[in-house]
Amino acid sequence: MSTVATSRSSTVVQSLTKTSLGKKYLMAVTGLIALLFVIGHMLGNLQIFMGQDQINTYAEKLRDLGPLLWVIRGFLFLVIVVHIWTGIQLKLENVSARPDPYAYRQYRKASLASRTMFWTGLIIFAFVAYHLAHFTMQWTNPSYQTLFDAQGRHDVYSMMILGFQNVWVSLFYIIAVGLLCYHLSHGTASMFQSMGFNDPRYQPTLDKIGITLSLILFIGYVSIPLSVLAGIVKLPTGGM
Ligand code: HEM
Repeated sequence: MSTVATSRSSTVVQSLTKTSLGKKYLMAVTGLIALLFVIGHMLGNLQIFMGQDQINTYAEKLRDLGPLLWVIRGFLFLVIVVHIWTGIQLKLENVSARPDPYAYRQYRKASLASRTMFWTGLIIFAFVAYHLAHFTMQWTNPSYQTLFDAQGRHDVYSMMILGFQNVWVSLFYIIAVGLLCYHLSHGTASMFQSMGFNDPRYQPTLDKIGITLSLILFIGYVSIPLSVLAGIVKLPTGGM
């Protein structure tokens, strides 16, 4: 890379990480990537309603990606770290700017969802850490590692059912997904604004998009633990 190109890219990195506008842009881009993951993950999980074979085939296909899966995981991890790190920086900037009466007025006008973004974000982070230990690493329930279906594949279907048959686990997932969707209801509109759709005329439409998307995600995700608790999705007969 030439010296000119190197100094140009370091200027871009600096303006993204050092200026408030750059940080908001970084929040928006990383938030968008995380949002796309959350939509894709919900669609993947909803395959539980199509039966054991369907969701286990899907899980196996993901695992068959091999090294590429690790690249995707690493990328997602980086995206989340940047999102959280930038969020903390913006929060600190906001706190130090609060004595300014204009900033204070802005704060008073802001919705509850926007004022609690930092805290809902931290709880979501704690949930994801638990969720990875629960279903991905299976550290909380090592017995899940011994679940296999008739084709000898890891039985993700039964693992999810066994997991959500515990009312407390289901309740925790439902609350965490609720907070995630609350976070997204504001985050989505705010993401569009940071990306340039900041004409006040767009505001009501952006708010509606954020709320509708969050509701769809909430219903999609919580339908899984609720269906398990209601006995609609059951363990395979003769299995386990
Ligand atoms: C009812 C809600 C959810 C269910 C049933 C669910 C289910 C699962 C399952 C079964 C896995 C492990 C897949 C496997 O090992 O084959 C998994 C992994 C994962 N889930 Fe969820 N999930 C839910 C909600 C969420 C939410 C809300 C997030 C993010 C905020 C999330 C983020 C992740 C991540 C990052 C992984 C790791 C992906 C990987 O290992 O490559 N999940 N989930």
